[in-house]
Amino acid sequence: MENMKIAIISGSSRSNREGKKISLFIEKLASAKGWQTTVLDPWAIDFPLLDKTYEEMENPEKKFTSVHDTLSDADGFILLAAEYNHSIPPALKNLLDYYRTEYFFKPSAIVCYSTGPFGGIRAGEHLRSICSSLGMPAITTMLPISKVKESFNEDGASIGGVYERRASKFFNEFEWYLEALKNQRTKGVPY
Ligand SMILES: Cc1cc2nc3c(=O)[nH]c(=O)nc-3n(C[C@H](O)[C@H](O)[C@H](O)COP(=O)(O)O)c2cc1C
Repeated sequence: MENMKIAIISGSSRSNREGKKISLFIEKLASAKGWQTTVLDPWAIDFPLLDKTYEEMENPEKKFTSVHDTLSDADGFILLAAEYNHSIPPALKNLLDYYRTEYFFKPSAIVCYSTGPFGGIRAGEHLRSICSSLGMPAITTMLPISKVKESFNEDGASIGGVYERRASKFFNEFEWYLEALKNQRTKGVPY
């Protein structure tokens, strides 16, 4: 189904983040599905550590409103999590925690990565339970990317097309949930 709006939420706030390549990679594949994508990059967005959530702000600054609008418009979320000490980057959790109802009854899909051989899978599993708490259940298939430094070029293409091939099950499954939940949301949501 075309006309899906996807927010790609990148995880890293490091200036020399590997995550840039991964978000280019995911953006390309999502666009190839005909989806409209917006990348939310914590480094560029530069939110302070959480004080008031978006709901609690009386006059939110433009940067908070703009992310709110992107999340509210989205039909689903692709989350990119590097592994930091066996969990997700603090900038990703911080960004996610600002919002709540914007996520409800929409699917999420997890891409995790690390410089090591395990593809950030421990961060990915933590993120799955966070997604559940936020009301955006994560699809079963994750896309773990190991040895991230050596696996992609700067344009976000994987070396030898390895990850483009691996991503197809991930994207097809996400598409199924996007359509299923979008159809169901037209009938209303429980709260
Ligand atoms: C604070 C910190 C903790 C890290 N902890 C882990 C780890 O537990 N396991 C792992 O495989 N890689 C770990 N790494 C390596 C990261 O996965 C790797 O640096 C990756 O490129 C980070 O993503 P980014 O460049 O987009 O920020 C860690 C990196 C940082 C900066």
